[in-house]
Parts: sequence; structure tokens; C-alpha cells
Amino acid sequence: FFVSEAFGSSIKESLTTLQPTNDTQAGRKIRISKNGTLNIYIALDISESVEEEHFKRAKLAVITLIKKISAFTVTPNYEILFFSADVHEVASIVDFYEGKITLESAIKNLEDFQIGDKSSGTDVNAALKKFEDRMAWIEEKTGDKFREHRHVFLLFTDGAYNMGGSPLPTLARIKNRVYMSPIGDPGSRLDYLESYVFGIGADIFDDDLLPLTAGTEGELHYFRLKKETNLAETFDNIIDENEVLGLCGLHRDYELTNDKDSKRKRYPWVVFINIQGKSPKKCLGSLVSSEFVLTAAHCFIFSDEPQDVKVEIDDGKGSKEKKVKTFKLHPQYNVTARVKQGVAEFYDYDIALIQLERPVQLSISSRPICIPCTKETSDALKLPGSATCRDQEELLLKNQRERLSFLTRTDPLVGEKDVYAKLGDNRDLCIIKALKAKRITTTDPKVAVTDNFLCTGGDRDHIACTGDSGGAVFKNYESRTIQIALVSWGTQEICTGGGMRETTPESRDFHINLFKMVPFLKSILGDDDQDDYAPLTFIN
Ligand SMILES: *[C@@H]1O[C@H](CO)[C@@H](O)[C@H](O)[C@H]1NC(C)=O
Ligand SMILES: *[C@@H]1O[C@H](CO)[C@@H](O)[C@H](O)[C@H]1NC(C)=O
Ligand SMILES: *[C@@H]1O[C@H](CO)[C@@H](O)[C@H](O)[C@H]1NC(C)=O
Repeated sequence: FFVSEAFGSSIKESLTTLQPTNDTQAGRKIRISKNGTLNIYIALDISESVEEEHFKRAKLAVITLIKKISAFTVTPNYEILFFSADVHEVASIVDFYEGKITLESAIKNLEDFQIGDKSSGTDVNAALKKFEDRMAWIEEKTGDKFREHRHVFLLFTDGAYNMGGSPLPTLARIKNRVYMSPIGDPGSRLDYLESYVFGIGADIFDDDLLPLTAGTEGELHYFRLKKETNLAETFDNIIDENEVLGLCGLHRDYELTNDKDSKRKRYPWVVFINIQGKSPKKCLGSLVSSEFVLTAAHCFIFSDEPQDVKVEIDDGKGSKEKKVKTFKLHPQYNVTARVKQGVAEFYDYDIALIQLERPVQLSISSRPICIPCTKETSDALKLPGSATCRDQEELLLKNQRERLSFLTRTDPLVGEKDVYAKLGDNRDLCIIKALKAKRITTTDPKVAVTDNFLCTGGDRDHIACTGDSGGAVFKNYESRTIQIALVSWGTQEICTGGGMRETTPESRDFHINLFKMVPFLKSILGDDDQDDYAPLTFIN
């Protein structure tokens, strides 16, 4: 069934219009509207004739769709309602305009909505009338600007309306308003109103539903859904296939199953590194562009050659070993630099970049994570074009205890460890534990733990195990993942065998803070004096 293709190509038009921007990260063009003039109206039928199972799937699909759309730089306003004989509004578009509701709370309202007593009445017209009222309010509010607004309707119903009369006159009035024509002549404005109708339920009334569609000619707007259609996955797929594969940090954040494939899509940037030189070692890394992997410098020893470095990346068809062209450690990384000051192993600047011989084929299972101080990350964080590196840092590390995550190898694929970075006044109490580490004799924790590290552990945090080194310490921002740091070293060797482990009272981990490593990242990833690879755009 091709809902995916058809709905995909047309919703894409709504999501990706107007100002073209070039996506250098993927080396391909992406058109995404930067203006929040997209209004999405969603109505779900909860009358008796629609079975619970159909309703649940439609609800999950809508949640997935909204989350996915939020990954784009466009921020639509939503009207979301359930209807039977009555209309239950779970998110009002008026509240979106007035800033009284966040996307998170709208999603929560949707998730929490309980049907209660099922009504045998179905009033499709009442749902459309609510849309009409809301649209009138927007026009009133925005005046001349209303001309630039696009409207997308998503209607989930079996079409068996038995109350409120035909919805067609209401739809006709809506068209007049959007087309700006008293006789409903669309002129050049056909694509300002797209009405998609999804037939759900055991008996679907096609003849009643087809006339409720509207929009660009040649696009499908009517879909009959079979019970087994996984609409959530379908929505996820469609938005994905549409030229956004290279957007950093995009991932699937609903997990239908706890298998390898789902994990790959949740952490599409995770990379396994096996060093096979004189001192074999397992590390983790992260894909930061289609050609570069970020990891820790201590994973390597000086005699390692590119051919000793085995990098395992999924290419969508399973894990594959990728050939390494070269790798570069931070020039200031020097483990023995502070031996005389009582730090036998000093891990400042513990960061390295591996360049692959050939770029990874981007797919939903393998694509880059966002890193600090790039233009792409500002977009992911929905910061304005003028945003600075500091603005990103203030947004991502604003709390005294900032919730972050990192991965560990487990079966299937990886497990996610939860930690809190101790910032501000909490930091000193965290780093002081470094003095308890073996082979550290200094009395000043800052000699071992410079300002370039974030500190986690204690506080019921998970703790890093052998093999977690080099992995991304990350944070999700809506549907995007941003790497904040990378796992470097810890005070105790609690779990040399790897796995999910909790902290002990004394164990702390130190992670290289990428906000402090921007010059190194920029010197390689942002280098535009070469034509070997597409550089990332760094901001000030
Ligand atoms: C995008 O790239 C094309 C060439 O690939 C160039 O002509 C155009 O000016 C670029 N647009 C922007 C907005 O950078
Ligand atoms: C987009 O927003 C900018 C600034 O708010 C405005 O100047 C421009 O006209 C808008 N464009 C559209 C198509 O809405
Ligand atoms: C590392 O630091 C030590 C101590 O300062 C110094 O002797 C050594 O030359 C440094 N190594 C490199 C590669 O810079």
C-alpha cells in the first residue's frame, strides 16, 4: 500500500517550500520553510463505529507525525481534536499562536486522552466547523499575512456521519477563505489548502470521504487504511525519505521493538571501533558527518596505523567494516604531560577524528549526530541564524544538573546510560573525587580534571565501563540528538567487562566537553580549503 509515497511527496511540499537552503552536511539540497506559517489541523474520529485498535494506531501515528515534523526547522501551529457527537479539542491552534501551549504539552494531551463512553453519533461537520472557526480567528489575527498561511487538514474517520448534516458546505466555505475567492476558485492558491483524509475502521464510506479531500492536483489525498497498516512507521518513513537523511541528529524516537534494527534507527550515529595494533582496544565513536568519526585520542597508541583501525558502521543493510583513510589526535593531547605534577595519566584533549576512505551511505540507520557550534546544530535547536556558539551552550547546559546520556555495547546493539553532568556549584564536589583515583597524587583536582571536562557519576548515575570510551555523551532536543561531550576516563575501573552499571559512592567519570574543543573540530571538519569532503559550517 503506497500511502507512504503519495502522502510523503505531498506533505513534503507543505513542509519544504519557500526559502531554499543548501545542506552542505549531506552535500544535497534541502528546502525547508523557515517561517512558521504552516497550520496543521488534525481530527480523529472516536465514535462507536471506529474500533479501539484503529483509533489507537491513528493516535500513535499523529504523535509520530508531529514529533517528526518538529525535527524540521519549520514550526507549525496545531489544532488537534477528537470527535464523535461532540468535539473534544486537545490542542487549540489559538493557544499555539498565543504561546500558551508547547508542542510537548500538546503531545501529552493527545497521549493522555481517554475516550470514555463511546458515542454512537458521528458529526464530521462539527469537526470541520471547528477548523473553520479557528481559521477565521487566524485570519482576524494575522490580517494581510493570512495570504501567506498554508493549511493542512488530516482527517481520520470512517466517514459514517449521522449527525450535523453534510460537511461539504463547511469545506466549501473554508476553500473560499483560503483561495480568497467567493466562488471557491483556487486560482494559483490550490496548494495553500491540503486536506488529507484517512479512512479508518471496518466499514469505510469512500463516497462520503472522497469529496472531503482538497489540494494540489495530481497528488493523492485519500487513503484507506487497513487495520494492519502501521501508520506511525509510515509517517516516519515518508518524512525521512524526503531528502532529510543528512540532517544531523535526526532519529526515530519511538521504539516499537527492542531489537537491533530499532536501536540502529534510534542511535544511527553510533560507531564501533576496534583497534588491532600492538595494544588492541575497543572504543565507541560517533558519526559526525558522512566521512568523519569522532572518538577519544586514548583509543590509539603512537604506533597505530590507519589499517589497524577497524570501524564498524551500519549501512542500512547490516554492520559493515569501513576502511580508514587517516586519523588525527588533538595536537595538545599528551598523556605524560603532568606526570611531574602527580598525574600519571593525563587525559586533557582526549579527542580524535577518524576520516573514512569513503563516505558512509546515509540512511535512516546511519547518519550523523549534531555537534556544538555548527550552523546545523543551531537549526536543530531552532535558534535564529544569528545564534552564537555560546547561545547553544547556554541552551544545552543550562542546569546545575544536566541530564545527559551515553551508550554501552550490550545485546541488542547498545544500551543507553543515564547521567547528570554536574555544572556550576556542583562541579567542584564532583571533580574532587578524581583525587581518589589510582596513580593520582596531586592534591588539586584541577590538575587532573581541567575545565575541558564534564563530570558525571554519583547521584544514582550510570558509570562508564571499559569499551564505552570515545562514545558520544548526548542530549535529545525534540527529535534531534546533539553530542555534548565524549567519554574519556573515570576514577575507578568498576566494569572492565562493559555493560550497564550504576555508580559507586566514589566513582566519577570525566568527559571531554566538545564546546571546549571547537578549534580542533573546526580545523578539520570545517576546513573549506580542500575539496576532499563537504565541510561543516561553524558559527562564532
Ligand atoms: C546553493 O548552491 C547552489 C549551487 O549548488 C548555489 O548556486 C546557490 O547560490 C546556493 N544557495 C545558497 C542559499 O547558498
Ligand atoms: C518569513 O519571515 C520573514 C521574517 O519574519 C518575513 O520577512 C517574510 O516575509 C516571511 N516569508 C513568508 C513567505 O512568510
Ligand atoms: C608530553 O609532555 C612531556 C612533559 O611535559 C614532554 O616531555 C613531552 O615531550 C610531551 N610529548 C609530546 C609529544 O609533546
